[in-house]
Amino acid sequence: MSSCVSLIFFSLFMFLRASAQDPTYLGYYCPDKPTYSSNSTYFNNLRTVLSSLYSHNASYSTGFQNATAGEDPDMVTGLFLCRGDVLAEVCRNCVAFVVKDTLDRCPDEENVVLYYDQCMVRYSNRNILSMVDTNGPLVLKNIKNVTSNQKDGFRDLVLSTLNQAAVEAASSSRKFDARKTNWTASQTLYGLVQCTPDLTREDCLSCLQQSINQLSIERIGERVVLPSCSSRYELYLFYNESAAIMKPSPPPPPQLSSTPQPDKGGISTGLVVAIVVAIVVAVLLFVAGYCFLKNVAKKAIHTSYAFNGDNRTTADSLQIDYRSIQTATANFAENNKIGKGGFGEVYKGILLDGTEVAVKKLAKSSGQGEAEFKNEVVLVAKLQHKNLVKILGFSLEGEERVLVYEYVPNKSLDYVLFDPTKQGHLDWTLRYNIIGGVARGILYLHQDSRLTIIHRDLKASNILLDSDMNPKIADFGMARIFGLDQTQQKTNRIVGTYGYMSPEYAMHGQYSMKSDVYSFGVLVLEIISGKRNSSLYPTDGTHNFVSYAWRLWTNGTPLDLVDPFIVDNCQSNEVIRCIHISLLCIQEDPVDRPTLSNIVLMLTSNTVTLPVPRKPGMFFQSRPENDPLNSVDDASITDLYPR
Ligand SMILES: *[C@@H]1O[C@H](CO)[C@@H](O)[C@H](O)[C@H]1NC(C)=O
Ligand SMILES: *[C@@H]1O[C@H](CO)[C@@H](O)[C@H](O)[C@H]1NC(C)=O
Ligand SMILES: *[C@@H]1O[C@H](CO)[C@@H](O)[C@H](O)[C@H]1NC(C)=O
Ligand SMILES: *[C@@H]1O[C@H](CO)[C@@H](O)[C@H](O)[C@H]1NC(C)=O
Ligand SMILES: *[C@@H]1O[C@H](CO)[C@@H](O)[C@H](O)[C@H]1NC(C)=O
Ligand SMILES: *[C@@H]1O[C@H](CO)[C@@H](O)[C@H](O)[C@H]1NC(C)=O
Repeated sequence: MSSCVSLIFFSLFMFLRASAQDPTYLGYYCPDKPTYSSNSTYFNNLRTVLSSLYSHNASYSTGFQNATAGEDPDMVTGLFLCRGDVLAEVCRNCVAFVVKDTLDRCPDEENVVLYYDQCMVRYSNRNILSMVDTNGPLVLKNIKNVTSNQKDGFRDLVLSTLNQAAVEAASSSRKFDARKTNWTASQTLYGLVQCTPDLTREDCLSCLQQSINQLSIERIGERVVLPSCSSRYELYLFYNESAAIMKPSPPPPPQLSSTPQPDKGGISTGLVVAIVVAIVVAVLLFVAGYCFLKNVAKKAIHTSYAFNGDNRTTADSLQIDYRSIQTATANFAENNKIGKGGFGEVYKGILLDGTEVAVKKLAKSSGQGEAEFKNEVVLVAKLQHKNLVKILGFSLEGEERVLVYEYVPNKSLDYVLFDPTKQGHLDWTLRYNIIGGVARGILYLHQDSRLTIIHRDLKASNILLDSDMNPKIADFGMARIFGLDQTQQKTNRIVGTYGYMSPEYAMHGQYSMKSDVYSFGVLVLEIISGKRNSSLYPTDGTHNFVSYAWRLWTNGTPLDLVDPFIVDNCQSNEVIRCIHISLLCIQEDPVDRPTLSNIVLMLTSNTVTLPVPRKPGMFFQSRPENDPLNSVDDASITDLYPR
């Protein structure tokens, strides 16, 4: 009977094989024990599992299915996972191919993972469901190196893109995310991450973390494929963009895939379609209604704010004619571009009266209405402090929205701090002054202004330096101006930057003043060391920036962290106190981190005793350079050529 089934199954397969394009083979992972013999119960169970993975009722449209057969000790658990953007038909063909291929490639092996570009198939004598497995990484690399002068920037971009993708993927029910971001004017970076959807959010994140950490990011494209998840980036579009965005999520209960319906000819396809359509329509109506109500609520809140203003800053006094902005920036000429942030590009401009300004042209994805936008700008423009960049006005024309800021001449801190030819200009006194100024600026945002503003993206490139090298924080209030939800302490839209993000923000989207405190701690360590938090710490291969600083601290050698340019000329007690404070800021538990008012106090008063810092919290880490590519043997490292 069962041989009859498998005969039908394999002939069906042969037919399909002839008609479909073969999927691209990547590699396999089969530890060579235990093995089965061909007349064993295990083999029979395996055949049952494989045939149910390749059956007409398998869930190719959601791209994931599991199956089990038999009982211990001969139980077989199997699954397939198709890449999140492949169409159901391609998924089906891939699974069909692999199900056959596995018996050729890994004959007699009980534990097998077979990787193809479009899908993967896995089975085992153990229960593999809902468990993270990161063994046997398959590492594939483009042959082209990143040019060395672009390495740091490229690395930051890849990590922040994949990090954000990982956070999104882990929170989604499909456990998949693909995204792109501009690298240079002509090059786009594409990233894709995916977990098997049987994993929890935390497990998926932890798997992706391990996958991403194994990318060396020395090549222009790489991927690390693990049994439970994979990550990949390239400078060309390697996935189906429209399908990646459009593919429906499996229905709400994020439990496991679908419980297979018995195929007793009961439910017709038509009925299924009707039910699905009804559900989709209901969900859409619900979402539309929700958004509508939420907008109404939001508008009400904002309107009431608008009349609270008591000084003379009004939308009218801040609005600037769009044409004069166009003139000031030579119509946003490329050579006037001075920066680029998460919310848009920044241009230098000179107004007709000779005032130099920085003009931020907001990216178009803001969903805010015009009135709401004006309201928010007015509120944020009222925040005035000598350590904040001043908003001079705004301008709009149709969809285009720009913010006009005072022009701060000495560029941003990262420009000076991380450049070996310039960092000598920043002696300890200047650096100490910058640390204090940034702390006071954030304190004002958090506590001393009438609005409580959480910056969410504090980093060296958001600290501008005026002609006396005083720091001015840029990009505050952007979440408000851009219309991201302020009423919740939790967000799906991650605004921050890799390396500065606190673990709870990166992993759970929870932001608070304490996430700014974490970023501040990382920034202070950068200011002291003169190194980017993404730099590599090759000392012993296991440390990233934060854990390196922590190790020096626990070893009693914190001064080893200090930038060689300033180490001979600094007040070591001040430096050590600053390192101590920054370690307090980056502690894992947000509750343990000091508030900004405490930080300012600690910085200004030597008589305040500091608590003993606990271990820092870390999220995605960069893999230090000379950490051997784990246990990957040469055979599994393949060079793929770019298309
Ligand atoms: C499988 O076949 C071998 C000989 O070919 C035999 O010794 C063994 O007992 C068989 N095992 C089972 C489970 O039938
Ligand atoms: C599919 O249908 C077959 C019977 O046609 C059934 O045995 C199997 O459990 C169903 N589900 C899956 C996932 O294969
Ligand atoms: C898939 O896994 C879930 C959870 O372990 C289980 O409840 C379900 O029965 C499995 N499906 C199949 C077809 O084995
Ligand atoms: C890429 O860089 C590595 C060192 O980082 C070097 O050994 C290798 O030869 C380079 N490959 C190419 C193709 O330039
Ligand atoms: C990326 O580059 C394209 C083409 O140069 C441009 O249209 C687009 O606005 C840019 N996107 C961002 C977010 O900068
Ligand atoms: C990409 O996806 C779209 C929409 O899902 C589909 O129509 C198109 O055929 C796909 N393209 C390829 C090359 O598979």
